[in-house]
Amino acid sequence: MESFRNRVDKNNIPKHVAIIMDGNGRWAKKHGKARVYGHESGVESVRSVVEGAGEIGIKHLTLYAFSTENWNRPKNEVDALMELLVHAIEMETKSLMKNNVRLSTIGNIEAMPPKVKEKLNGCIDALKLNTGLNLVLALSYSSKWEIVNATKNLVRDAIDKKIKPEKINNELFESYLNTAGIPDPELLIRTSGEYRISNFLLWQIAYSELYFTEKLWPDFRKEDLFEAVFDFQTRERRFGKISEQLIS
Ligand code: IPE
Ligand code: IPE
Ligand code: MG
Repeated sequence: MESFRNRVDKNNIPKHVAIIMDGNGRWAKKHGKARVYGHESGVESVRSVVEGAGEIGIKHLTLYAFSTENWNRPKNEVDALMELLVHAIEMETKSLMKNNVRLSTIGNIEAMPPKVKEKLNGCIDALKLNTGLNLVLALSYSSKWEIVNATKNLVRDAIDKKIKPEKINNELFESYLNTAGIPDPELLIRTSGEYRISNFLLWQIAYSELYFTEKLWPDFRKEDLFEAVFDFQTRERRFGKISEQLIS
């Protein structure tokens, strides 16, 4: 079978793909290792998928790396994840640069340890003039946090008379979200055979195509991304209309 890379329609590439990278712990267990080993191995998947996304012309790739709820994991795992993040940023900045990738974040970055913030800011700054893929890391992110935070800022601006309540519409509300300026993901992928959203991009995935795979994140590679995009391209996106109304 020809590879999915050659089978995807280059004229119908989603602009934004979001991924819930799940299954690191189970992958490690399967290999008789500690959970942290699974997280470490997941970095290789990130590298491959970021490369692949750039290669087929995806503009924005959002990766769910650490949720608000993940703070409730055992301290040693949280600490290891923060360490790994620092290490991964240090190791990957050079190749991200080579691949013309920009970096940005969504989530409550203020809650991240100082060392992580420092490395993130350094990396974001180093890559800021790049014009290729926009890699968005969701860190200390949860969609309910994002929406509540947006509402707080919006209400503040209304009280300060910067906006009129009657002017609030989808577009204005979106401008208060962390994802302001980024189109909604056309495609959301979740690995590891879990069929849930886990507080990710609730507003933004209102009309996304959902793709679930049994593969555990450390086994996921760019070819799997191409397969998901290929599958996406077989879907009919009707946005409430009927088939006959769609011009092809
Ligand atoms: C995803 O893998 C990574 C993070 C949530 C940080 P998990 O750590 O959730 O792995 P499983 O789901 O326990 O296998
Ligand atoms: C979702 O995975 C968060 C990330 C991938 C960062 P989890 O493994 O934390 O999700 P649940 O708790 O199983 O829903
Ligand atoms: Mg999980």
